[in-house]
Amino acid sequence: MNLGFADLSWKDNNPFSQSYGDFYSSKKGSYAEAKHVFIEGNRLEEKFLSLEAGTTFSIVEVGFGAGINFLTTCQEWLKEDKSNQFLDYIAFDETLFNVEDFKKTIKQCPELKEVSRVFINNYPVNISGTQRIYFKDYRISLTLILGDIKSSFSYLTNASDIDVWYLDGFAPDKNPDMWSKEIFKQMNLSSHRDTTFSTFTSARLVKNNLEQSGFIYELAEGFSNKRHMLKGKAQSAAVKEGSKKNIAVIGSGIAGSILAYKLAQRGHKVDVYEQNEAACSGASGNDILITYPRLSAFDSPYARFCLHSFLFASSFYDQLKTNAWHNSGVLLMSHDESSLKRQNSLLNARPDNELFEELSHEEASKRAGLQLNNGGILFEKGGYIEPKALCQDLLSHKNINLKLSSTVEKIDLDNNNLKLTINGEVSEYQEVCLCAGYTSKDLLNFSGLSSKRGQISYVDSSKEFENLKFPICASGYFSPKTKGSHILGSSYSDVTNDSVLEEEHISNKKKLKVIHNFNVTINGGNVGFRAVTKDRLPLVGCNKGIYVNTGHGSRGSTSSPLCAEIIADLIDNRPLPVDHEVAIALDANRFN
Ligand SMILES: Cc1cc2nc3c(=O)[nH]c(=O)nc-3n(C[C@H](O)[C@H](O)[C@H](O)COP(=O)(O)OP(=O)(O)OC[C@H]3O[C@@H](n4cnc5c(N)ncnc54)[C@H](O)[C@@H]3O)c2cc1C
Ligand SMILES: C[S@@+](CC[C@H](N)C(=O)[O-])C[C@H]1O[C@@H](n2cnc3c(N)ncnc32)[C@H](O)[C@@H]1O
Repeated sequence: MNLGFADLSWKDNNPFSQSYGDFYSSKKGSYAEAKHVFIEGNRLEEKFLSLEAGTTFSIVEVGFGAGINFLTTCQEWLKEDKSNQFLDYIAFDETLFNVEDFKKTIKQCPELKEVSRVFINNYPVNISGTQRIYFKDYRISLTLILGDIKSSFSYLTNASDIDVWYLDGFAPDKNPDMWSKEIFKQMNLSSHRDTTFSTFTSARLVKNNLEQSGFIYELAEGFSNKRHMLKGKAQSAAVKEGSKKNIAVIGSGIAGSILAYKLAQRGHKVDVYEQNEAACSGASGNDILITYPRLSAFDSPYARFCLHSFLFASSFYDQLKTNAWHNSGVLLMSHDESSLKRQNSLLNARPDNELFEELSHEEASKRAGLQLNNGGILFEKGGYIEPKALCQDLLSHKNINLKLSSTVEKIDLDNNNLKLTINGEVSEYQEVCLCAGYTSKDLLNFSGLSSKRGQISYVDSSKEFENLKFPICASGYFSPKTKGSHILGSSYSDVTNDSVLEEEHISNKKKLKVIHNFNVTINGGNVGFRAVTKDRLPLVGCNKGIYVNTGHGSRGSTSSPLCAEIIADLIDNRPLPVDHEVAIALDANRFN
């Protein structure tokens, strides 16, 4: 969960790797070197100018380092309007620069001032595995895979559309793992006939491995005092694919709406079917949903999903710039022995305040604007969404056609054509995404999904707590004032009817007592049915030719953005925003 930072020292203000005994970039200027070796070495200016509308251009970098090549590429990308294209930048490294070292490095590159300011605001976190960061206004995504290249490069196993490779390990004699035969073999498998590569080195080992793996190279003038560098192309018959599709999304809750939006943004035409008269009126129909993670101090696919999905969700909502997202922070209270134990192990694993901060009882009360019963840990990137307003915003995308009062009765797959029967009429699609909450299993007949009723209570505001600054979560949760009331949540029961029940208000009030000994007046409630799985991970992936995105349990606002990204990448046949183990842990067929 907590990866160390790059082990470096400084020589004339240039970062120098202690572990590999080499500089990260040329002492003659890292920006100029990046331009010469990687931008010009791959004729990126020309390639970017001739991109067709709707194209995703992908670059893979082996050796992310301080990110100078990444930022130089971003700067090149931004030279011309790219409102219709997308840059997918995938980078591998074993460690990340800490932000102070990054700031010191980037001072040497005044040309990158603007892009690096944006990068610092979205700086990656030093956690192992795959993380994806969107720079939405730039139409760029950075997928950073932190870990040893010997195991992490298998991330590209299913990738076939990489346009450009940047090879930027340390000098091959000091860092052979970054130049191994396995790397070049995988590069070739993931290339198409127009793929190019470049690197600063012209070492014999690199030439041999390129040749043996099906690349054609040429020697070019090296940067500064280096005589030669290498550039060239893949010998491959594969043709890059990139067609836009007609896609149906079933369900307009938070899972379906975010997925429809992501697909629409990528240029697909999306019909969203909702059986109710209004969008977002199933489990997502609460006034607010609190966005915070379920973290573990131990590394597992479950823990990685929880952490990455939280960071991804927070950044996704931030970048939407919508009033329906309140980045208030969320306090997870330590209220009993087991929560205290869990929080202590988290704090031991991650004492650097990057993901959460420990707040004493006194400090927590001060920051919350309310005298609380205990302290806890504060997730600064947490907050809460107003799902109805959010889904409405998302579904208004020009490529989305929302079809209300439209019940999908049947899905048929014949001869690779997907046919939906909707209110008795049949429509055909190239892809179908099932985001119908707990009823998804009625349409596709799969195992592992059940429903759990939940009721929230609306609480009249009072002077005592009207200034509450952020949601407090313990065994239940209590929210800041929204639309005149506070939300107190929530019950978790097997009752199957959807009426608001007095006994569930009483159980919610009991949960509130853990947070503070208020006497509250309840003025109403709302009931929903969560789609839950046995292992508390959502069901995400392809099942019988249908993309499934459900089982978000009690954390749909946290898990939906990353799961939507996974489905969109599966449909576009692109590398996923999570590693293989996580994708397998989420697999929609895992209970069948
Ligand atoms: C009381 C309560 C409190 C909660 N609090 C939180 C919280 O604080 N934070 C958080 O992150 N999560 C919370 N959750 C969980 C969260 O609400 C869910 O994880 C999330 O809403 C799931 O979204 P979804 O889009 O998968 O499902 P839904 O919102 O249920 O959407 C499914 C949609 O599909 C439609 N549909 C179903 N079948 C068909 C069909 N055949 N044809 C057409 N349409 C169909 C439904 O009408 C529905 O609109 C809470 C849940 C409950 C019940
Ligand atoms: C020359 S630097 C990269 C500089 C970078 N491209 C930039 O723009 O700042 C080489 C990088 O390779 C990484 N590296 C070396 N060995 C590795 C390994 N076995 N697995 C993953 N990354 C490795 C180092 O951590 C270092 O950041």
